[in-house]
Amino acid sequence: MHVFVTGATGWIGSAVVDELLDAGHEVTGLARSDDSAAALEKKGVRVHRGDLDDPESIRAGAAGADGVVHLANKHDWAEPATSDRAERNAVEAMLDVLAGTDRPIIVANGLSGLVEGRPATEADPSPALGPGSDRGGSETLTLDHAERGVRSMVVRFAPSVHGAGDWGFVAFLTAAAKERGVSGFIGDGTTTWSAVHRADAARLVRLGLEEAPAGSRLHAVAEEAVSTREIAEAIGHALGLPVASIAPEDAAEHFGFVGAFFGMDMSASSARTRELLGWTPSGPALVEDIRAGAYA
Ligand SMILES: NC(=O)c1ccc[n+]([C@@H]2O[C@H](COP(=O)([O-])OP(=O)(O)OC[C@H]3O[C@@H](n4cnc5c(N)ncnc54)[C@H](OP(=O)(O)O)[C@@H]3O)[C@@H](O)[C@H]2O)c1
Repeated sequence: MHVFVTGATGWIGSAVVDELLDAGHEVTGLARSDDSAAALEKKGVRVHRGDLDDPESIRAGAAGADGVVHLANKHDWAEPATSDRAERNAVEAMLDVLAGTDRPIIVANGLSGLVEGRPATEADPSPALGPGSDRGGSETLTLDHAERGVRSMVVRFAPSVHGAGDWGFVAFLTAAAKERGVSGFIGDGTTTWSAVHRADAARLVRLGLEEAPAGSRLHAVAEEAVSTREIAEAIGHALGLPVASIAPEDAAEHFGFVGAFFGMDMSASSARTRELLGWTPSGPALVEDIRAGAYA
């Protein structure tokens, strides 16, 4: 399959590109800069120049491929509405050009805000509806296109897609610990996050692209619930720093933007995903990775 990958230079996207190439697929990657284009060319990936802020460029990339994996995101943590707007416009443009073709598209999402008091499952719909909602309501928009001749799917990634070199949430927690001289958890630290190793997440994206039916919600989740206290303890161990509780009202100052996510329960099951695709994660656990120095 000739696959158009947005976010092909990102943390997850670069592993997805390798996974697709290893499986014999042809890849065209979106690049918004010369550096990103050079990184892709070095891997033998065709380059499509464009930007999330230019939906026409994204549409053209999708039009020329047999399938799409959408992993680009502006991640403007200071102004999430900016990222959400660009996400909505880009996803809409790609779905539009794929309508009636039965071609596959995978759109990335996270696991925040789905349910309260229990792990989220693949059966839980996203409450984000419409352009003004979280991630521009792209999950619902994507899945609705299963009725419009698109093999559209969503992969919800655990809040930590971990591994050496990760620059995601755990890297921000580690940076906060270094800066403050203490590795913090919020309150009693019983809030939990799900987690997945990057290589397992990349394999799931490939399997979904190849095999999952239209309208699938797939959970890239290897560990259902890791307590935020355990995460803080592992970071403290790796950095040789003390571990302490941070009062919820001090979390924003202590952690920065990632404090809001660290205080959120983002546990999730992947039972249906595993059954549907025969996906068995095999990478190291999050705490193992942190303790082994992946973030130090
Ligand atoms: N990593 C996680 O733990 C995690 C957890 C839950 C959900 N997710 C979601 O999974 C997806 C992939 O995440 P990631 O961690 O791989 O992200 P990442 O490492 O931050 O990579 C973002 C990618 O988007 C590209 N990009 C940023 N702004 C762009 C723009 N204006 N136009 C075109 N491309 C642009 C970047 O290209 P450049 O190389 O040019 O910067 C990069 O390839 C995202 O939707 C993310 O929200 C990730």
